[in-house]
Amino acid sequence: MAATSVVVLDRGNNTTCTINLHGATVVSWRVNNQEQLFVSKQAVFDGKKAIRGGIPFIFPQFGPWTIGPQHGFARIIRWHLEKAPERLASGDVEAVFSILDTDFTRSMWNYPFRLTYRLILREKELHFNIAVYNPSKDLTFSFNMLLHTYFKVPDVRRCQITGLQGCTFIDKTREGAVYQEVRDVVTINEWTDRIYQNTPQEHIITNVVSGRKMRIQKYNFPDTVVWNPWVDNAKDMSDFGDDEYPNMVCVEAGHVSSPVILLPGTAFEASQILQVM
Ligand code: BG6
Repeated sequence: MAATSVVVLDRGNNTTCTINLHGATVVSWRVNNQEQLFVSKQAVFDGKKAIRGGIPFIFPQFGPWTIGPQHGFARIIRWHLEKAPERLASGDVEAVFSILDTDFTRSMWNYPFRLTYRLILREKELHFNIAVYNPSKDLTFSFNMLLHTYFKVPDVRRCQITGLQGCTFIDKTREGAVYQEVRDVVTINEWTDRIYQNTPQEHIITNVVSGRKMRIQKYNFPDTVVWNPWVDNAKDMSDFGDDEYPNMVCVEAGHVSSPVILLPGTAFEASQILQVM
């Protein structure tokens, strides 16, 4: 019999969070029965391919990688359930996932590491606490990390994203040209693939599910990636429906435009809080 591959945090009141151990990908977050995350109808759950939607965990590389798969290996390996869902005194529910280096990870990236991913489901919030530890006595390593969150939205053209004005961004749709954002709110009406740098701790996305707002708070994640594939790129992705692009926006907190450099015996910590307002 195949081992269980999904873990459910249930806070009551139809508020749940479901994590697939493949990539520790959050594949559902329901608040009062309202799904907040987009997962493509064509997503593949074969335990090999990255899951198209939810919150894939990007580590240790963001983007193409000469020595391994695009966006690293963390989203395509099976994670360990370090601590099964447990109700805290507050009523919130917590679970912890982890990965260690293996022969597979070492075949691409020859470093020892330990990564823990703690999720806490609150009434209207989902908290993410991440720690990477370098247990080596003499090796320093560097990496990227990013939470590739696909928010579910009724129509991406009606969403506004705050907190980007004045930030420089790398525009991947224009061969990586660098610009400065002048708009107080960012809207999306075309293929968008941008790495905003040194962004503030908070963003708000308007007009998510049920016309509500989503607040993103992030700590130790200096970058914010904004991505929507739009018409042509949607058609080119086998695991993404041609007509699904209006129903999602990726607003991704990460440490990607410069690497995290982790000295022997030290740890890196970062976190994110998503809140339905
Ligand atoms: C985004 C990148 O974060 O992820 C895009 O900025 C990329 O360039 C997108 O196309 C999806 O990547 P993938 O590997 O899941 O198809």
